[in-house]
Amino acid sequence: MKNILFNKDIIQRRVQELGRQISFDYSGHEICVIVLLKGAFMFASDLIRSLTPKVRVEFMKISSYAGQNSTGLVKIDQDIDYDIHNRHVLILEDIVDTGLTLHNLLDILYKRNPASIEICSFLDKPSRREVHVSVKYIGFVIENVFVVGYGMDYNQMWRQYPDIQIIEGD
Ligand code: XMP
Ligand code: MG
Repeated sequence: MKNILFNKDIIQRRVQELGRQISFDYSGHEICVIVLLKGAFMFASDLIRSLTPKVRVEFMKISSYAGQNSTGLVKIDQDIDYDIHNRHVLILEDIVDTGLTLHNLLDILYKRNPASIEICSFLDKPSRREVHVSVKYIGFVIENVFVVGYGMDYNQMWRQYPDIQIIEGD
């Protein structure tokens, strides 16, 4: 398995571009970045280093029960210990697939009355979408393939690859 979709140089260039765009959009404001564990950890560490506004970094771990149920459900395994009331929240995610995870997470976070919430996802698989989610910042749009690397896993393995690789189905 070595089917590289995006190599580390292309990834780094795109992440720096995203960082510049986000820094521009939030200039003069403080950002409360919420990193969704585990998948977004590597993307977050690169992106956050390129941000120039004031940044607070929080981590959240959620699991999704998408499946038979069309709306899906999100379980918070680890919550942030910070009140986002009146804060500008930026969620960092590895990949948006059906959209159910983020759709449900947004419901939960909006109840805490933040000033704003935006989503930045490293990857987007729009062909798989089941519910609409507005993702303001996207690294790359991909086809319906399963990818690993740059923080993303298959059965918890292969997160360490610095590039994005496609797992071939059989
Ligand atoms: P939703 O709720 O949008 O879920 O369907 C998004 C989550 O699904 C996982 N996911 C992947 N993980 N390679 C991965 O390593 C993939 O190609 C992939 N597609 C979806 C991921 O956990 C994401 O947060
Ligand atoms: Mg994930």
